[in-house]
Amino acid sequence: MKAVRGTRDLLPPETALWNHIEATARAVFARYNFGEIRTPVFEDTGLYARGVGEETDIVSKEMYTWEDRARAQSEKAQSLTLRPENTAGVVRAYIEHKLGETGQLQKLYYMGPQFRRERPQKGRYRQFSQIGAEVIGPVSAGSESPLRDAEVLEMLATLLDELGITGWTLEINSVGSAADRVRYNEALRAALAPVAPQLCEDCQRRAVTNPLRVLDCKVPADQAIIETLPRIADSLDEDSLAHFAAVTTALDAAQVPYTRNHRLVRGLDYYTRTTFEFTHNGLGAQNALLGGGRYDGLSEAIGGPKAPGIGFAMGEDRLVLTLLAQESATKQVLADAYIAPLGDARDAAALARVNAAGLALARELRHTGLYIELGDGSFRLKKSFETADKTARAIVILGEDEIKSGILTVKTFSTGVQTKVPRAELATFLAE
Ligand code: HAM
Repeated sequence: MKAVRGTRDLLPPETALWNHIEATARAVFARYNFGEIRTPVFEDTGLYARGVGEETDIVSKEMYTWEDRARAQSEKAQSLTLRPENTAGVVRAYIEHKLGETGQLQKLYYMGPQFRRERPQKGRYRQFSQIGAEVIGPVSAGSESPLRDAEVLEMLATLLDELGITGWTLEINSVGSAADRVRYNEALRAALAPVAPQLCEDCQRRAVTNPLRVLDCKVPADQAIIETLPRIADSLDEDSLAHFAAVTTALDAAQVPYTRNHRLVRGLDYYTRTTFEFTHNGLGAQNALLGGGRYDGLSEAIGGPKAPGIGFAMGEDRLVLTLLAQESATKQVLADAYIAPLGDARDAAALARVNAAGLALARELRHTGLYIELGDGSFRLKKSFETADKTARAIVILGEDEIKSGILTVKTFSTGVQTKVPRAELATFLAE
């Protein structure tokens, strides 16, 4: 049997890189005073329909949705969905636990699997992992302030730098308030009407149902026409313009480089005002390392109180791809020593004695913090040496003679030198 299309197994040594990314993210989030939230991997389907938007690709085509079994015959089966993203789940939890009543800004981060039924390719999977964060709260806690947007972007620049990802680009835009977007949608609909028949089939539909989504179109033949469409910047009211200007002024002060992308409207319907993506050229077609933005109306859209927010999600799979390409390959982590019990496979009692002594020695050394690989007394010495050379920096021979004398033979592979070491000094010798 094989892993299902679009899913994959992550194996060592690559998983060490995943752990490194997660540990670095946790450390950076802690410095910005974020706490971790863990929400369920599946939710009521209605949450995504209302939160992310029925017309988005994610909700209309890509969700893994099923009918749960009804508890009683009279009951309607609940429709459930594997989370395609985590912002809607976090906002649902914010409402459910009345976190707004604390009067404080909630600064929450998460990491974990998300599921979208997209066409798999490099950097795009059906199960993928996101590391994200959300800043959300009542207006009185300052949740609408452009400083929050700038601080989140500055944190992301810091995190990417600390991960060692070089050559990223930050693109930002403003999609305005809900009212701005109504105006822009009208302008866009009017401009699209005469040219829509020349666009791809998807865009012809979008031109009617959700004109903003036309700006996401990647079909090369459509690009020249899309470039002539009105820009959202021209539909922003004074407040939205001032908000955007304050974000860029703060970014300039913090010396975070960015470029304005007028077409960056993002593929989820909850965004208001600031939207952004960090891209990386090394990724190919799926070049977004992360994306995010402000969602001032999301809480209300799913039945909660007014709670403006801003957040992002990084594609962890894409961070790994970028680091792998930069570092040529991940190195296997070598153990400090390989313990080779030396027995006689034909003498079960003797074999059991050296193996038991091997376990006791391994336990002693591991307790001092050393990384130890334990072999098996039934292996021939040649096989033990070959295995040790691949997995550890040194080999420790432990036969009946060594057990009796308490003097062990250690060979260090980098120098080829063989040394006799008293057992009591072994941990210090290996550590050095
Ligand atoms: P998103 O742009 O849909 O935003 O996803 C964020 C990131 O997840 C993308 O930039 C990409 O790196 C990664 N990603 C998305 N789909 C896949 C896939 N199929 N395979 C691999 N990686 C993928 C969101 O999900 C929003 N919830 C972000 C957000 C948080 N906005 C506000 N707060």
